Amino acid sequence: MTQPKTEPNPQRFPPRFTWGVATSSYQIEGAAHEDGRSPSIWDTFCATPGKVLNGENGDVACDHYHRLDTDLDLIQSMGVNAYRFSVAWPRIVPDGRGRTNQAGLDFYSRLVDGLLTRNITPWLTLYHWDLPQVLQDKGGWPARDTALALGDYADVVTTALGDRVKHWITINEPWVAAFLGYGNGIHAPGHTDLAESFAASHHLLLAHGLGVQAVRKNVPDAQVGITLNLAAAYPATDSEADKAAAWRQDGFANRWYLDPVFGQDYPQDFVELLGAASPQAQGLVLPGDLEMIGAKTDFLGVNMYTRSVVEDAPGEGFMNVRGLRPEGSEYTGFDWEVAPQSLTDLMLRLQKDYNPAAIYITENGATYPDTMNADGSVQDDARTRYFQQHVAAVGDAMAGGAKMAGYFAWSLMDNFEWAEGYDKRFGIVYVDFDTQVRTLKGSGQWYRDFVTRAQEGQ
Ligand code: NOJ
Repeated sequence: MTQPKTEPNPQRFPPRFTWGVATSSYQIEGAAHEDGRSPSIWDTFCATPGKVLNGENGDVACDHYHRLDTDLDLIQSMGVNAYRFSVAWPRIVPDGRGRTNQAGLDFYSRLVDGLLTRNITPWLTLYHWDLPQVLQDKGGWPARDTALALGDYADVVTTALGDRVKHWITINEPWVAAFLGYGNGIHAPGHTDLAESFAASHHLLLAHGLGVQAVRKNVPDAQVGITLNLAAAYPATDSEADKAAAWRQDGFANRWYLDPVFGQDYPQDFVELLGAASPQAQGLVLPGDLEMIGAKTDFLGVNMYTRSVVEDAPGEGFMNVRGLRPEGSEYTGFDWEVAPQSLTDLMLRLQKDYNPAAIYITENGATYPDTMNADGSVQDDARTRYFQQHVAAVGDAMAGGAKMAGYFAWSLMDNFEWAEGYDKRFGIVYVDFDTQVRTLKGSGQWYRDFVTRAQEGQ
């Protein structure tokens, strides 16, 4: 496919465009057993042999919990005007429900104050996958009570930080939490049951609705939305069968979440495809749920990394769909196709089909096997090119009429990449995990210079 080769033009973006870097709690904080934090499903999963590459875990990660001030200086040095982070539920409500742990709140309060002092806007994600293990023991996301517990936890966090945090993301990537967690078992808690995973998806969306409700109640001047991982789905050929396969893939990855979040019902074609595994057939969609999930939001957050190209494949999985690896394309270290044009296509489609008030790319980035040169520099040209192409694609989407309002690079720094442990580096800062020394990569230097020029209007 055609890919923009040129450097993006910073003048295409309004000076007040949001430019940020993003992280999540379990991936960077460490201090897993400190200050009253209880175990999350990821602590348990990491301790289960064979689940995470090299048996690694987030006990130390980037040790961010102990290096908060210098990490905040690092963020500031990148010239960004926003920082997206997540709050660890097991630090705030260690029993899942009930008692609040003040030490946990204090950490995030210091984080928020440190950002505001540096003129960086905090973007807080309430749930980025570290479910308190105690709630998994009671059924986890396939159980409706977990959504209600998230509502209570959201009430605590919005009450404590809402005076200073005005940008809230309820749930990060419900598709991943539901399907990788409960469907194919690649993520915590590692279950492999299709019906469970779709029960989980409904309750994650319900939790989103309850999160929106908490934000509206406690932070009336806030902006709130959800972050979905979306990937445009293209048919391998023009055949009707492949086009239908791409539509099924779109139902699975995109429409299943977009339709209800934007106030429609779940996509009927996919409800039918799921049959007994659908939340409807399981009797889980109760009166009022769709209104709660479809409550008006202020923006849509999109995590975008790649696209999918699929063909009709009878007998393949529960959808009869096979993903292909188009030849002649570039691929990142995860073997994800570099497909910036698909970002533009996706944004224009979202604007047309769902008309969001604003769209923020809440994550975009790439993993490559970085190495440090003898002079201490990390020259990650492929990642720089990836960012250039995707930022240009955001500009194209904006020029085409999509209401693009911001972009966050994933990630601030190399961190714990879930089932891949520390093997897959996504940072624009290199982390030496033995010494915890942070080094700005070439891509980080490019991003810093670009966002600085964009904000200065040059
Ligand atoms: C999306 C997830 O939100 C984030 O946690 C992860 O590290 C990146 N994708 C890269 O896989």
